[in-house]
Amino acid sequence: MTRIFSGIKPTGHLTLGNYLGALRRWAEVDQYRADALFSVVDLHALTVEHDPARVRRLSRQAVTLMLAAGLDPELCTVFVQSHVDEHVRLSYLLECTATDGELRRMIQFKEKGAHARAAGQSVRLSLLTYPVLMAADILAYGTDEVPVGEDQTQHVELTRDLAVRFNQRYGHTFTVPKATHPPVAARVMDLQDPTSKMGKSHESGAGIVYLLDDADVVRKKIMRAVTDSGLQVEYDREGKPGIANLLEVLAACSGGNPSELAGAYESYGALKKDTAEAVVELLRPVRERHARLASDSGHVEEVLRKGAERARGMARPRVDAAYRAIGLLPR
Ligand code: TYM
Repeated sequence: MTRIFSGIKPTGHLTLGNYLGALRRWAEVDQYRADALFSVVDLHALTVEHDPARVRRLSRQAVTLMLAAGLDPELCTVFVQSHVDEHVRLSYLLECTATDGELRRMIQFKEKGAHARAAGQSVRLSLLTYPVLMAADILAYGTDEVPVGEDQTQHVELTRDLAVRFNQRYGHTFTVPKATHPPVAARVMDLQDPTSKMGKSHESGAGIVYLLDDADVVRKKIMRAVTDSGLQVEYDREGKPGIANLLEVLAACSGGNPSELAGAYESYGALKKDTAEAVVELLRPVRERHARLASDSGHVEEVLRKGAERARGMARPRVDAAYRAIGLLPR
């Protein structure tokens, strides 16, 4: 059976980008067709300046939202990364497989490193090694597919390179995984700056739809989205990035195709209005289920306990095999 692994980092409130690019498909498709693991990858949240209480709060909220989005712990494994030591154990072996040059080339390291420096903060070493820990997350489980948004492609490519290199040097140990993306909205853009990704850690929330925003806030944000010059509704990602983004979001919500949808609209205003309503309707059940689950912390804890136990059982034999293969004495 196909093995799937994917994760969400608790560095901010989850966004429409996280939902359309990843979470929705995990819940609607992936958990049914594969042996799937979904993790709140909390160790990754420590790679940038963080507040411990906030990370704890966001981690719990992310798990609750994953369940609210429809992940069923009877069908898939839901857990928190730091509960399974194998990730960090394997990460060290992969640090001994990766080179500093290939890590310095990672786009997210360059962007986030520059951002930290501009804010007068130092760059944590873990920000550089982050993609190695991500590779460990994936490789520990013999993962075949990694369902992610487009922004994670480079990290999954690095994971593939590390798996191949390790296997060549020390004998076949890891499955070489591949990234998969949703057919539309694999890169949802910021509503106020449609040339950059809608990301949960942006300073201003005006261009970001959060999954837990009230319906009226969602409407307002979408109605105020920056649009492009001209009046005609066209699907042109280069020339009309704001309109293209709205068309993709609407297509993702309604199951349509962005180019075909463009033909149905005569004004930007009408497109915005329909997009806003479609997003509100899409998120409504998630918000409702979240409200119910958030008051049942016992259930969430039980899911995490069982999830970690199952994940540990799956990861340990492969990580132990990697320790032996690389030349370390068996315990
Ligand atoms: P993270 O937490 O930034 O995002 C979680 C998932 O949401 C997707 N995503 C988007 N998709 C479309 N449009 C957007 N604007 C958008 N923003 C985010 C991401 O592509 C991702 O699929 N490094 C990862 C977390 C991670 C991971 C892993 C993922 C750690 N280890 C192992 C997969 C496998 C990250 O920062 O995702």
